[in-house]
Amino acid sequence: MYFKLLLLGTLLTFTACNEHHQSKNLDGEKLLKEKCSSCHNIDLPPKTFEDEKAPPMMAVVFHVRNFTEINVESQRVPKAIEFVKDYALYPSISKAFCDKESLKSYGLMPSQKGLVSEDELEAIAVYMFEHFTQENLEKEQRVLRKYNAMTQGEKIAIKNNCLGCHRVEKDLMGPSFKKIADKYKNDEQKLKTAIRNGGNKMPPYTNLSDKELQDLSKFIYRSLKK
Ligand code: HEC
Ligand code: HEC
Repeated sequence: MYFKLLLLGTLLTFTACNEHHQSKNLDGEKLLKEKCSSCHNIDLPPKTFEDEKAPPMMAVVFHVRNFTEINVESQRVPKAIEFVKDYALYPSISKAFCDKESLKSYGLMPSQKGLVSEDELEAIAVYMFEHFTQENLEKEQRVLRKYNAMTQGEKIAIKNNCLGCHRVEKDLMGPSFKKIADKYKNDEQKLKTAIRNGGNKMPPYTNLSDKELQDLSKFIYRSLKK
C-alpha cells in the first residue's frame, strides 16, 4: 500500500502542480501532518476506518465550509479558517458542527492548546481550505482511476522508472518499447534477460521477480499492436 501511495505521488507530480501558499514561512501541509494526522486521516480522497479517532480531514473541511454562517460568499473561506483556528484550541459541544451521534461516537476533540501555536494553526487552516477542495478531489480521483485502469506491466514500468528513459513510440535515452518489442518478438526469455541484466547506461533489475518480468514483457509487446 505504501508503495502504491509513493507511486501515486510520482504520478501526481506529472498531473498536478501542488502550489501551496505558506503563511509566515510555515508549511501548512507539513504541520497538518505533524499536528493533526494522529487522529484525522488526511488522505485525499479520504480513507475511513472502523475505529477511527476522528472524522477524516476532508470531511471536516467540507463540513465546516458548508455550515459556517456567512453573509457574503467571499467571506466563506476566511470565516471557515477562523472557525478551525478557534475550534482546535477551544473545542466545545455547542460550537461543533458534527451531528450528535458522531460526537458521541468520536467524543469531543481534546483542545490542542500547547501542542500547536496560533501561527501554526493559521498555516494549517489556510492549507486545509486550499487543499481539500472539490476540484482537487476530482483531480486525484481521475489520477486514481487512471492508475487503476493500467495493466500490471505498466504499473511495474512506472514503479521502476522504465518510463524515465523509455517511451512506447519514440526513442528517449533508451530505445522505444516498440523497437525493443520488435527486436525480441520471438524470444520473451531474451527480453526478460535484457531487462534483468541492464546495459551500459541502463541499470540492472535483478530485484524483479519472474512474474514481474513477464508482466513487463507483456506491456512492452503490447506496443507492437499499436
Ligand atoms: C487527539 C485527536 C485529535 C487531534 C490531534 C486533532 N483532532 Fe480535530 N477532532 C478530533 C475529534 C474526535 C473530532 C470530532 C468531534 C468534534 O467535533 O469535536 C475533531 C473535530 C475537529 C473539527 C470540527 C469539525 C466539525 O465538523 O465540527 C475541527 C475543525 C478539527 N477537528 C480540526 C483539527 C485540527 C486543525 C487539528 C490539528 C491542529 C486537529 N483537529 C487535531 C480529534 C482530534
Ligand atoms: C537510466 C535509464 C534507463 C532506465 C531507468 C531503463 N532503461 Fe532500458 N535501456 C536504457 C538504455 C540507454 C538502453 C540501451 C542499452 C544501454 O546503453 O544500456 C536500454 C535498453 C533496454 C533494453 C534492451 C534493448 C535492446 O536493444 O536489447 C530493454 C529490454 C530495456 N531497456 C527495458 C527496460 C525496462 C523494462 C526498464 C524498467 C524496468 C528499463 N529499461 C529501464 C536506459 C534505461
